[in-house]
Amino acid sequence: MATTIPHGAHTEDDEALMLAVVRELVRQRVAPRAAEIDESGEFPMDLKQLFAENDLLGIPIPTEYGGLGGSFLTYVKVVEEIAKACATSSLIVAVQELGMLPILIGGSEEQKRRYLPKLASGEWMCAYALTESTSGSDAAGSMRTRAERRGDSYVLDGTKIWITHGSIADVICVFAVTDPSQGPRGISAFIVEKGSEGFQVGKKERKMGIRGSPTVELHFNNCVVPAANLLGAEGEGFKIAMKVLDKSRPGIAAQALGIAAGALDYATEYAKERVAFGKPIGQHQGVGFMLADMKTEVEAARLLLYEAARRCDTNDPEVTLWAALAKLKCGDVAMAVTTDAVQVLGGFGYSAEYPVERMMRDAKITQIYEGTQQIQRLVIARNLVGKGGKGTTA
Ligand code: CAA
Repeated sequence: MATTIPHGAHTEDDEALMLAVVRELVRQRVAPRAAEIDESGEFPMDLKQLFAENDLLGIPIPTEYGGLGGSFLTYVKVVEEIAKACATSSLIVAVQELGMLPILIGGSEEQKRRYLPKLASGEWMCAYALTESTSGSDAAGSMRTRAERRGDSYVLDGTKIWITHGSIADVICVFAVTDPSQGPRGISAFIVEKGSEGFQVGKKERKMGIRGSPTVELHFNNCVVPAANLLGAEGEGFKIAMKVLDKSRPGIAAQALGIAAGALDYATEYAKERVAFGKPIGQHQGVGFMLADMKTEVEAARLLLYEAARRCDTNDPEVTLWAALAKLKCGDVAMAVTTDAVQVLGGFGYSAEYPVERMMRDAKITQIYEGTQQIQRLVIARNLVGKGGKGTTA
């Protein structure tokens, strides 16, 4: 079933139509697979194919580059809908976006035309490789991966860790130091194709949640990359990386919100059915008030997220702040609401027979990746009061 959304159209009607299609796909194809994907830890290639066939992998990518030309707002709503049932599956859409954004933001016309259509159609998968063992939060200051210009090529050396979809990506946007004397201004961004000489996929992580999503190490040993694959100019890599996160963090916020909303729905239905002391547990104030708080938090988080997405659409100058606000709120709401959903279900909530324990495990990562909650607070605080001198990042 392919969406009937015309490319380039993004009216409210188009969005409503698209979301209706997505809800149906989720109901029929994604929700029934969620527990098994978590159990097996295998990437659901069939669902990636399903999303590709329904044009969900390049929603905010302009039509001239093969995308749907939709809005970021529509994009986050789609991620949210999928995450209500399966966090791993929602990440397929979100990480494809994350991997494409460096090219959309920093790429030349030629690079955009070469890569974006195949990524938007899902023919190729992509990944974003910033993190290293010594540089997670301090992404610029502690980066060790080096890139050295040699003739018409750059030679990359180093290891990236925690790279979502790294093992299944055809194209990876990699950040590396080209001039160590320049700090963040000495970092450059490169498009590395799978199969490049000196490129190797390393260890796959065993994780608490999002278990169907492969997270791997990537090794670059004298890895040769054509100079034509440099994104922007030398030294522009860190700014590209940060601008990407401004637009991708709302995608993770949407994943978090979806997980929370899915858990709230499940706990609410359970509380209507489960009887204790002669009436449904939801009608006991202890549980009813928990559900009321969960609902309030989910709706508050949703408003914040949609506002951040609108600001992505208008390239608002405060998008960095709003992306951080949305990621912070939605991640914390996901953790709190899924934990409470487990509580509402009691012993059943703790059992893998019911989905809320998976949702609680999946929620945790949304407080960690694409910038921890501490980094979001740092970004927000800097926005309010400035950065200050050395030592203020701790
Ligand atoms: N847009 C444009 N430029 C930006 C920017 C932004 N949002 N943020 C920073 N910059 C620029 C600054 O203006 C500065 O430029 P100048 O040198 O010209 O002044 C330069 O970048 C350095 O900025 P800072 O001094 O603020 O840098 P910092 O070292 O203090 O750190 C930070 C900034 C916000 C802490 C950043 O390092 C950060 O976001 N860390 C977290 C990293 C992160 O989110 N990693 C996630 C990995 S991806 C992932 O998790 C994906 C997945 O698996 C799904």
